[in-house]
Amino acid sequence: MKIIHLSTECFPVAKVGGLADVVGALPKYLNQIKGVESSVVMPWYDRSFVHEHQFETVFDGWIHQDAQMLQVLVLKERQHVLGFPLYLVKIPGLLDRENPYGYWDESQQFLAFQHGVLHWLSAMQIRPDVLHCHDYHTGLVPFMVEHCYEFRFLKGVRTIGTIHNGEYQGAMEWSMLSYFPWIDNQQVLGLLDWNGKINPLAAMLKCTHAFNAVSKGYLEELFHNFRGLERLVQHEHQKAFGIINGIDTSLWDPATDHYLSFNYTSESVIDGKAFNKSKLCKQYGLNESLPLVGFIGRFALEKGADLLPDIISQIIQQTYGGVNVIVLGSGDPAMEFELEQVNQRFSNFAFDRGYKEELSHHIYASSDFLLMPSRVEPCGLNQMYAMRYGTIPVVRYTGGLKDTVEDISTGGAGINFAYATADAAVGALHRALHIYHQPDLMGALIQANMSFDFSWQASANKYLNLYKGESLE
Ligand code: ADP
Ligand code: GLC
Repeated sequence: MKIIHLSTECFPVAKVGGLADVVGALPKYLNQIKGVESSVVMPWYDRSFVHEHQFETVFDGWIHQDAQMLQVLVLKERQHVLGFPLYLVKIPGLLDRENPYGYWDESQQFLAFQHGVLHWLSAMQIRPDVLHCHDYHTGLVPFMVEHCYEFRFLKGVRTIGTIHNGEYQGAMEWSMLSYFPWIDNQQVLGLLDWNGKINPLAAMLKCTHAFNAVSKGYLEELFHNFRGLERLVQHEHQKAFGIINGIDTSLWDPATDHYLSFNYTSESVIDGKAFNKSKLCKQYGLNESLPLVGFIGRFALEKGADLLPDIISQIIQQTYGGVNVIVLGSGDPAMEFELEQVNQRFSNFAFDRGYKEELSHHIYASSDFLLMPSRVEPCGLNQMYAMRYGTIPVVRYTGGLKDTVEDISTGGAGINFAYATADAAVGALHRALHIYHQPDLMGALIQANMSFDFSWQASANKYLNLYKGESLE
């Protein structure tokens, strides 16, 4: 079975968040299943770590977009170092930029990407069994495959859509229709529409053969809270599934992680974490004898990052004996500014602004607790990385966090809190710090967290069922 994944991110080529981790891992684990060949197609980014010489051009063609001719180049990675064939689509002027997101003509960029990929596959007569579309950026593919004459060679190919984040839907004005490939029949335009706009995520739900959210917990929430698409997901409920993400356990392994100063296993975890923590604390001027709480993530409302200044001020001021907090992230400038202010006030708080893959590994390994006060968390990978590194997750009870972290009060090994408020998070952190001062309990929780199996195998098999149109249970 041939599966092509379409995505705007794929680790390690381009990563903004968990989408990259999933698209960089799932195809690799699918390829370990007999008879499966999966590959990834993503836009080309003008980044230093994607050197053109590692790629060969396998296609050079033209597409038509809003009365303009655009050149489409498809480059294939020469060696499959990632565990799957990787293709990059380059469209000079549109898909040759530094970052995946944040440009004023984003709708046009994603339309060109989807058009370019389908044009290439049709022209080269490459007909996969499945086109797997990740998030709204590739959500128009199922519609295009069925309703654009130009792609008639692909008509009938099974399409699967994954909702990694329903907060972003890519809605655009109807005037953008001129950027679409030619649509056979004007009567199908309703499939693109949601609330008077072209909505790629809505079109994905309507047109795919099946779609999934990245956890069952998140799927349940979407039925009641989906930024306006609730009625649609209710209507399409028969093709809606929840499949929890896995983590790439070969990359995220404290025993072999080459970023860590000290590697460790569950047998050496207490010393291993202490060594890593000592080094990190020295680097940031923190007191290594105090408990360490970490946060890693995008500064967005969905992550509850706006709550951090209040949480940090409260927990540092209220904790008798002291606590350290370290935050790594970037995003909303107002949230960054507020954290800078808090950073001036407390020597027990370290703030590193930016995106730093290596540092994130140090924080997972060194922290005693990882805080996730998310308002919305479709799956969340951070908590799973933390657990694998023996770090206890302190998470809001929502979406995928509900499915992966169980509170100690009900026999689990993590800490949950119900509301996305600073007070609730601080309350949960107090519970965490109380456990920290009971070494036996803390040790048992570390062991329990490290023993969970979050590998991709089980979920990769569920995706395979979805590809085949079989039941998931
Ligand atoms: P999301 O995709 O919503 O951002 P996830 O929990 O699924 O959330 O995945 C986030 C991924 O991005 C994890 O691999 C996490 O370690 C990484 N990450 C987030 N922010 C940063 C950062 N500032 N520096 C390094 N890695 C980060
Ligand atoms: C999204 C979600 C996150 C999820 C990731 C990978 O970015 O916000 O919760 O883990 O996609 O599926």
